[in-house]
Amino acid sequence: MSGTSLDGLDIALCEMKGSGKNTSFSLLKFTTVPYSDSMKQEILSIFSKQMVSLEKLTLLNPWIAIENAKMINNTLADWGIVASSIDLIASHGQTVYHAPKSLHPLDSFGPATLQIGDGDHLAVHTGIITISDFRQKHIAAGGEGAPLAVYGDYLIATDTKENRLLLNIGGIANFTYLPANGAFEQVFSTDTGPGNTLMDSFMRAHYNKAFDKDGEIAKNGVINNELLKAMKQDSFFELGFPKTIGPELFNLTFIEKAQLVSNNTTISPEDIMATLNRLTAETIVDAINRLVPSKDTYTIYASGGGIHNLHVIEHIKSLLPNISIESSEHIGIQPDAKEAILFAVLANEAVAGSPMLAGGYATKIPVSMGKISLPQ
Ligand SMILES: Nc1ncnc2c1ncn2[C@@H]1O[C@H](COP(=O)(O)OP(=O)(O)O)[C@@H](O)[C@H]1O
Ligand SMILES: [Mg+2]
Repeated sequence: MSGTSLDGLDIALCEMKGSGKNTSFSLLKFTTVPYSDSMKQEILSIFSKQMVSLEKLTLLNPWIAIENAKMINNTLADWGIVASSIDLIASHGQTVYHAPKSLHPLDSFGPATLQIGDGDHLAVHTGIITISDFRQKHIAAGGEGAPLAVYGDYLIATDTKENRLLLNIGGIANFTYLPANGAFEQVFSTDTGPGNTLMDSFMRAHYNKAFDKDGEIAKNGVINNELLKAMKQDSFFELGFPKTIGPELFNLTFIEKAQLVSNNTTISPEDIMATLNRLTAETIVDAINRLVPSKDTYTIYASGGGIHNLHVIEHIKSLLPNISIESSEHIGIQPDAKEAILFAVLANEAVAGSPMLAGGYATKIPVSMGKISLPQ
């Protein structure tokens, strides 16, 4: 798994048992292989931009897969595990553009999303059968290609006694609400807006750092309420649910526009970071409050790199004083490995499951997701 944060490739070695509602998994090993600066720069040269070199995009499609295959091969060697003992790779690929209908103005085109890092190259270069490109089937069946977390969340995290809200704070933040009654029709999932992506872009541009470690810079700034209000006025936040989004909207231009509109072009970088940090927390909580029935009690189980941003978590806690927030570790899901595990679940469904899930939420017809690439 590699998300929009471009921090690296998450590699989770999972042992899966059963399928559908009888799915269980154990996480045997996990690591994140960081992307080198040069790899990040190559991806950033086309990432979430409207205009790019078509040649570069074409070249990156196999190249990312070959780089990822090297990372997988080296990691397996480190772990002392031979490729022939692995049944399947589940590969998300690198999202380079996510275009829900709300984002693009072209009436005659539907929603679309593009993940590159071709599955055939991964299969040939690792010698392992690869399931990849999960998101296209979701769109073909009437969804937006995201969030796909809902399916795996439902299968591995539903509890019979407790209402659970699984919050993932990656580049973009999303959550899945799992009522304790286990009825799939009542499960829902949506993106909420920025997770780390605005903070990361600002850190890259103004501090030459990949992210705000533990939220320390934001903590030292002062929230600018006019800037916050200008950012929250974006029409994305008014859209109904479910909705999905990416860094195509939430980028430096988004911040600069809001600074102009609110007459805040000269405020300090710390204050901007404090405001971006608050925006992530407030838009997560706004979406939760709009979607989850107010009579429900529930526990939040959080995952994704954003849970290490302690300042975001403090804000969320202060905005939801009566709700307990735990790491997903408390329900046996390693928070940094969670998204990778969820794609292993989807791959397992593709080869062993029944195509029940996508019918229940956001898409119109039931489908299984992912394409199969054989090494030979
Ligand atoms: N110690 C930390 N303090 C603050 N933020 C962190 C920390 N560790 C990771 N992050 C954030 O998590 C991001 C990676 O999260 P991840 O879940 O991998 O997102 P994605 O799925 O988009 O790749 C980093 O880019 C960074 O913003
Ligand atoms: Mg990541």
